[in-house]
Amino acid sequence: MTALPAKVTVYEVGPRDGLQNEPGTVPTAIKVALVDRLAAAGLTYVETTSFVSPKWVPQMADNAAVMAAIARKSGVAYPVLTPNLKGAEAALAAGAQVFAVFGAASEAFSQKNTNCSIAESIERFRPVMDLARAHDIPVRGYVSCVVGCPYEGDIAPEKVAEVTARLFDIGVCEVSLGDTIGVGTPNRIQAMLEAVTRVAPVDRLAIHCHDTYGQALANIYAALQAGVAVVDSSVAGLGGCPYAKGASGNVATEDVLYMLHGLGIDTGVDLGAVVDTAWFISDALGRPPASRVARALRANRKSN
Ligand code: HMG
Ligand code: MG
Repeated sequence: MTALPAKVTVYEVGPRDGLQNEPGTVPTAIKVALVDRLAAAGLTYVETTSFVSPKWVPQMADNAAVMAAIARKSGVAYPVLTPNLKGAEAALAAGAQVFAVFGAASEAFSQKNTNCSIAESIERFRPVMDLARAHDIPVRGYVSCVVGCPYEGDIAPEKVAEVTARLFDIGVCEVSLGDTIGVGTPNRIQAMLEAVTRVAPVDRLAIHCHDTYGQALANIYAALQAGVAVVDSSVAGLGGCPYAKGASGNVATEDVLYMLHGLGIDTGVDLGAVVDTAWFISDALGRPPASRVARALRANRKSN
């Protein structure tokens, strides 16, 4: 266990991981306003959309229109998911400057999510990496199901380490470790990180927790104790994964910020502006934010 990091990068995934799972169609203009508000709040990574098949994920079909309309604040990265060369070429044409490839530590999940085995997914990423390298584009890697899989159950930490190592081998700059269905508890996150940090430096790892079982903040705290300083989160706790039944939203950005700031950790993000953004998107979706902090801070403001 090391000391908690003094500074943490909060990596916003709401416009992608959140909105990909919405049952209804979210208007492009709302998505664009959401991205711009998140960037204005001080988030330096705002994952904006994904260049996946619109047959698989129709919610992201307006990817190029979203990329064309966002404000692109200086100092902010707007990563996009690029599962294969076709997606990467479309992302490049849309002006994306950071890519992300996504694999899994579970064979069954890899098949359900991307229609291929883990090994085949790595092969699909190679031309994405080549294209990215030719254009100086950094590529993030995701590993899903780092503690549990909706189809296979428990996942061995060694399997997560193996897939992480393969992603670094092909040249990703960072690997985000996803508890896709939120089944982890702090001890399991620690055991997983122990295995992964044997093959990769901790300063190139991020933690990506869904909050299905209410364990996300505790799991993030465990990851911070292990030295992880990049935390993925989703404004208002939006989200889930269309290929992980029962995966509720990501941990809410507001809740993560509240915890980090309370711990004296610098994020550079304006919590109040994120809370306003959480209410903006929640009003647009017609339901209150999943975030306890967003609801509590609004109630406080009203009573003051
Ligand atoms: P496939 O069907 O195996 O691909 O899908 P294919 O190469 O056989 O092509 C089939 C058709 O799809 C063709 O069209 C292609 O042109 C088209 P047709 O000839 O039938 O008209 N196609 C595409 N169209 C647009 N963009 C593309 C693309 N690729 C092929 N990039 C594929 C393979 C990976 C594309 C598909 O399975 C897919 O799109 N999956 C999406 C899965 C997804 O987006 N999941 C959610 C994101 S991951 C996640 O949420 C987890 C994460 O948050 C971390 C965590 O929580 O753990 C990151
Ligand atoms: Mg996710």
